[in-house]
Amino acid sequence: MNPHHQYRAYLNIAVKAARSAGRLIVRNFENADTVQVSEKNKDDLVTNIDRECQRTIAETILHFYPEDRITGEENSANTENVSAEREWIVDPIDGTTNFVKGIPHVAVSIGVKFRGETVAGCVYDPILDELFTAEKGSGAQLNDRKIHVSNRQSLNGTIIAVSYPHRKRQYLDEYRDMMNRAFDRCADLRRMGTASLDLAYVAAGRLDGYFEACLYPWDFAAGELLVREAGGFVTDFSGDKDAFYKSGAIVCGSPHVHKALLDCIAPDLKSFSKKLEEELKAKEK
Ligand code: IPD
Ligand code: CA
Ligand code: CA
Repeated sequence: MNPHHQYRAYLNIAVKAARSAGRLIVRNFENADTVQVSEKNKDDLVTNIDRECQRTIAETILHFYPEDRITGEENSANTENVSAEREWIVDPIDGTTNFVKGIPHVAVSIGVKFRGETVAGCVYDPILDELFTAEKGSGAQLNDRKIHVSNRQSLNGTIIAVSYPHRKRQYLDEYRDMMNRAFDRCADLRRMGTASLDLAYVAAGRLDGYFEACLYPWDFAAGELLVREAGGFVTDFSGDKDAFYKSGAIVCGSPHVHKALLDCIAPDLKSFSKKLEEELKAKEK
């Protein structure tokens, strides 16, 4: 099959799954009677709706591709199928804290990897009914209209999304320095609370750049393809375009903004990377 037809077919399933989860999110948004909140880890919330969304998404995918692997934040099915050619990387609700607080900034994120490479992805904001989509080699869209990263040549006048490492506060000192440097050079910063939408907004040129560490593949699998297909660069904090799945640290923007953000990160890179290595080593044990 022509690979573009193949990627389009995956994207169509991802969109179908994201929209069905989106309906659940909208139906339960700000409904204290139906939303049950619990804490998975410190400051890491999950609700019954996250789990329902994950189930709905898995059902949709497995209906069409019963052998596929699904890697979801709230895993529900076929997680062990490591030999599958395709892997669907799912965040059923990205921005759970926003969801719980009634802040209307949440998304469903689904990225599709084929033989290890991301080939399709969607980020769906069900509250605004905004659907961001991308297929490898075919560009990125918002509600079917082509989108592109902004064309800023430097950080001057830019709006940059950041976040605090709220669940891994050992990185706070390095993070503060990086953010301070970015703040000194840009127009303003945003901390919006939904990583997949930060990436989607960079792809759409609403934000000029974004950096965050301590992420998981489901936070960025779809969004990083959106940014690349919209003409942006995506790497880890050292500028490596293949390493962010391992480190969970991502920096992106138009080529110039991306480079300028790496410059803001660079003075703290050594100390940041040392802590990251220690964390990864401890996890392996
Ligand atoms: C979180 C959001 C947030 C980011 C966190 C993520 P969740 O995802 O994407 O923007 O700063 O690191 O964990 O927990 O709401 O799916
Ligand atoms: Ca997430
Ligand atoms: Ca989530």
